[in-house]
Parts: sequence; C-alpha cells; structure tokens
Amino acid sequence: LKEVYKDYFYIGAAVKLGEYNSTPFYQAYGERLLEHFNSFTAENGMKPENIYRDGTYDFTYGDRLVRYAREHGAVVRGHTLVWHNQTSSLIPGKIPKEEAKRLLKEYISTVAGHFRGEIHAWDVVNEAVGDGSQWRTSSPWYQSYGGPEYIREAFEYARMADPDAKLFYNDYNVVQPGKRERIVRMLEELDLVEAGLDGIGIQAHWNLVWPSVDEISRTIETFASMGLEVHITELDIDCYDGNPSTPQMEYTPELEERLSRRYAEIFEVFRQHKGEVTSVTFWGLTDPDSWLNGFSGGRFLKERRENYPLLFDGKGDPKKAFFSIINW
Ligand code: G3I
Repeated sequence: LKEVYKDYFYIGAAVKLGEYNSTPFYQAYGERLLEHFNSFTAENGMKPENIYRDGTYDFTYGDRLVRYAREHGAVVRGHTLVWHNQTSSLIPGKIPKEEAKRLLKEYISTVAGHFRGEIHAWDVVNEAVGDGSQWRTSSPWYQSYGGPEYIREAFEYARMADPDAKLFYNDYNVVQPGKRERIVRMLEELDLVEAGLDGIGIQAHWNLVWPSVDEISRTIETFASMGLEVHITELDIDCYDGNPSTPQMEYTPELEERLSRRYAEIFEVFRQHKGEVTSVTFWGLTDPDSWLNGFSGGRFLKERRENYPLLFDGKGDPKKAFFSIINW
C-alpha cells in the first residue's frame, strides 16, 4: 500500500496499546503494519487520559511508538492534545479560567515539548465544533474559558513547543456543509493560521452511502484553496450506514463487493487531489479491532455487533477493498 501511494500521500493506521509488541498475534499485526503503512497514530495511547495522571506525565506509550516508527522509517501523527473526551484526568470539568489557562499551557508545552522533532503532525485541537455546527460548549476547555479562545492558545503553545511539527485542527462530519462552513469561520475568527495551524484533519468516519464523492471533493478543495494541507485522519466505512438498530449482518460476497467499490471511489477522489491530500490514515487495521463494533449512529451500542469497516479481516488477510485501492 505505502509503495503504491508513495507519490501521493502518507498512508497510515491507528494502533492500539500493545499492538506492536512481540506476542505472536501482534507480531502478525506488526508485519501488516510495517508492510503497508508509513504513518502511525496511537488510537488511544497519546490522549491526555493516558499521558497525564495526578499531576504527573507518563510518556511510555508515545516513546515506544515514536521509537518503533523511527526504527521502521515511518512517521507518527500525534493524537491529540486538546479534546473534550478522554481528558478528565487533566481537566475534569469547568474550573477557574486562570487555572485552565495555566493547565493548557503546561500540558501542551510539556507534551509537545517532550516529543519535539519526533511528531510529523499533531492534532492540536480535536472536535471543538459540535454537531449543530456551533462551538462544542460542553467541552471543559470551552466552559472554563467561557469561550473558544483556548483553541487559538493551543496552537500558539504547540507551535512554540515544536516549531517543525505540522499542526492540525481535526474533526468529524467536516464534509457536512454547515460544519465545514463553521470550521472555515473558526479559522478566520481565531486567526489560526497566524497562530501556527498548517492543516485540517478530516476524520472520515463514513459509510457505504454517505458522504457523496462530490461532497468529499468539495471539502478538500475548500481547505486546499485556503492554502491548507488536508489529512484524512480516521478513515473507516460503517457497513451499517450509521444505523444502530440494524441487526448483525454477515459479511456476504455482496457486502464485500460494495465495500470494495466504495473504497475504490473514495481513493479515486484522494488521488485526484494529489498535493492537497498529503496523508490518509485508517482508524485501525483489522475489522475485529475497530471501534465500530461497539458504536453506531452517534452512540455506543449495548452489545458488540460485528462490523467490517477496514482493509483486513480478523485473520489479518487483505479484503477485496484492499485490492481495489491498490489496483486502480
Ligand atoms: O482501557 C479501558 C479499559 O481499562 C477498560 O476496562 C475498558 C472498559 O470499558 O475500557 C477501556 O477504555 C476504552 C478505550 O477505548 C480503550 O480501548 C474506552 O472504554 C473506550 O471508550 C475507548 O474508545 C475510544 C474512543 O475514541 C473514546 O472516545 C476508541 O477506542 C477510539 O477508537 C476512539 O477514537 C476516536 C478518536 O480519538 C477521535 N475521533 C473519533 C474516534 C472514534 O470515536
């Protein structure tokens, strides 16, 4: 995969804690990872809740990932410095503004400073715009600051701590016109390019029918025309099309074919935007590892439901979708 796309973009995968150590299962996993991908993102391991506890920092996971990537000629996308989720060990909820400002500065300077020179791109701020295309006012950062200025400050601190990392704003549903326009306005209102922003991360938690290739194209063009890089940061295809009540489906040859065609058309769009899309990361490697086995249509499922959103099956074998994006 990485060979086929070397003139287009980095090709990445999200990895879980422990997935690149030496147990037999993970060895096979590691081989797939190294054979096909040249960019790694920690699926959870570099989020605040896994780095910061009781006022102390633990970089064990990130250090291992960075070392592993360096040894194998891959880059690391840092995910993520500022989020409302998986962050309560750092900021549990609304706290006094001055304390939040101090914490934001300390956390970003310490973490981005620790990994200085080792991270290809940081998702500096994740999901600061809510589902109604307004600010995510429930974020502890928003609440403590009483507004969105924390976003600009985050980019400034990240830029100071790691002058060479590419700095990204990352979000889901970026292809929805309302949300996309809100993000464009955010960039302008908060002057984020001046603060250090280099690009936009489109998470790309998509499905078999949504979004249209035209909407994907328009979104890439919107940001590219502003001089920004576009990273596809969390690509997967929900085979249930976002419907949590559809019962468990088998992975039939028909579904295999639909998924394969869907991946083919999406990658065609990415290739058409050569030079604008500079990195494409899958949110996981094999189907059984995907977060989508437990999540659908905006909520966590009560019971696990097998989903088939990625390029490799549970045995680590490539699916038809894999071949559809290699042979075009
Ligand atoms: O590690 C604990 C474990 O100790 C505990 O026993 C177990 C019981 O629930 O939970 C484990 O933590 C889970 C964690 O993943 C690690 O597996 C959490 O419950 C679970 O909520 C968490 O989900 C992650 C989710 O972010 C949380 O917000 C997913 O793995 C991860 O794929 C997902 O990734 C996000 C991106 O960061 C941002 N964009 C959306 C994307 C999908 O939600």
